[in-house]
Amino acid sequence: MSRLDSCFNIADLRDVAQRRLPKGVFDYIDKGTEDMIALSGNRRAFDEIKLLNKTLVDISDVKLDATVLGKHAALPMAIAPTGTAGLTWYEGEFELAKAAAKAGVPFTLATGSNTPMEKLANEAGGRLWFQLYMWREKNLSDDLVKRAARNGFEALIWTVDIGHGANREHNLRNGFATPYVLNTRSVLDMLAHPGWLAGVMGRYMMNGGMPKHVNYPPGYQTKITGNVVEQKKTHGVAARRADKVGWDDVDRLRDLFPGKLIIKGIVRPDDAQKAIEHGVDAIVVSNHGGRNMDSAPPTISLLPQVVKAVDGKMEVIVDSGIRRGSDIVKCRALGASAVLTGRATLFGTAAGGEAGALKAIDFLKDEMKRTMAYVGAQRVEEIAEDCIWRG
Ligand SMILES: Cc1cc2nc3c(=O)[nH]c(=O)nc-3n(C[C@H](O)[C@H](O)[C@H](O)COP(=O)(O)O)c2cc1C
Repeated sequence: MSRLDSCFNIADLRDVAQRRLPKGVFDYIDKGTEDMIALSGNRRAFDEIKLLNKTLVDISDVKLDATVLGKHAALPMAIAPTGTAGLTWYEGEFELAKAAAKAGVPFTLATGSNTPMEKLANEAGGRLWFQLYMWREKNLSDDLVKRAARNGFEALIWTVDIGHGANREHNLRNGFATPYVLNTRSVLDMLAHPGWLAGVMGRYMMNGGMPKHVNYPPGYQTKITGNVVEQKKTHGVAARRADKVGWDDVDRLRDLFPGKLIIKGIVRPDDAQKAIEHGVDAIVVSNHGGRNMDSAPPTISLLPQVVKAVDGKMEVIVDSGIRRGSDIVKCRALGASAVLTGRATLFGTAAGGEAGALKAIDFLKDEMKRTMAYVGAQRVEEIAEDCIWRG
């Protein structure tokens, strides 16, 4: 039995990922920030929502097809941007993008990825979105946006919830940083995972050297491995992210990018309304999967008031905590047009590259279909708010 055959849900894929990956890499993906309160809060909020079984209705033809950003998707989901996905598998972003294309859902390439956007655009197929972190030198971000447009990316996601960076103490404890710091701890960690060392790091070495943030502006590109001095220098990459930003930047991006513009990390109704005024096509109600501000409320709890404020004038996408197909049904019932999956599909990639990512999407699809049948919805549009139990 292959390691994927022994998986029956996202939690199983997570277990395989944990065995395969060095602890530093696994914790970087799996954990949240500080005391992990936002991370566990996201899950708890989903678990506390109960759905009502609707009986004696026709459920012989349940279909998951949905419209996401104005185009067809096989189900109402897209893959969230996850920087450094290339450490989970050799060119992990490429594997995940191919799986998304096969499954019929959009894929988002993160600014901090290890695969060039050109390779994805030319070889992955499917619907591609590009996620932006804005640099202080805004002209460098503009160059990246133009490059994404030239490469035919359908949507630009600007992530705005990063603040002054995240206080992820586990990464420091594990000696993990991007760029990767080679210290006794991280080297022993890598050596304890020979499959990963050969299959991921080894393949990068055979194909041009250590993984880099290849989509960063040339002056910012650093190897994912580096010594402390180099890391100190390039820690500037986080420090180089713009912290003086405003709605005028949204306008600039709107003018610059011809495709759809999505702002990720909006959680307040008033911010959502401003996004509409500035011509944004969609927002992602997100707390970054509990990875940034540990006091962030669960996004599924915030969703209804944001949806109300938006009043159908823009698409509202949601992420943070989705691990089951039933979670997607809950998001739709509370007014989201679609969800983004971060860890769920990344665990799949870490467990088995493209096949593992496809497996993750299949689990979510199967569970979603089953849940739709329980709540008596044959079509995604029929998932109504009244399937939520109000006690
Ligand atoms: C390993 C990892 C890296 C991430 N990198 C980025 C990133 O570069 N840009 C971004 O906007 N969000 C990033 N995120 C956040 C995701 O886009 C998404 O908001 C989050 O993972 C959703 O929560 P979930 O993991 O519970 O599904 C990252 C998440 C993970 C797990």
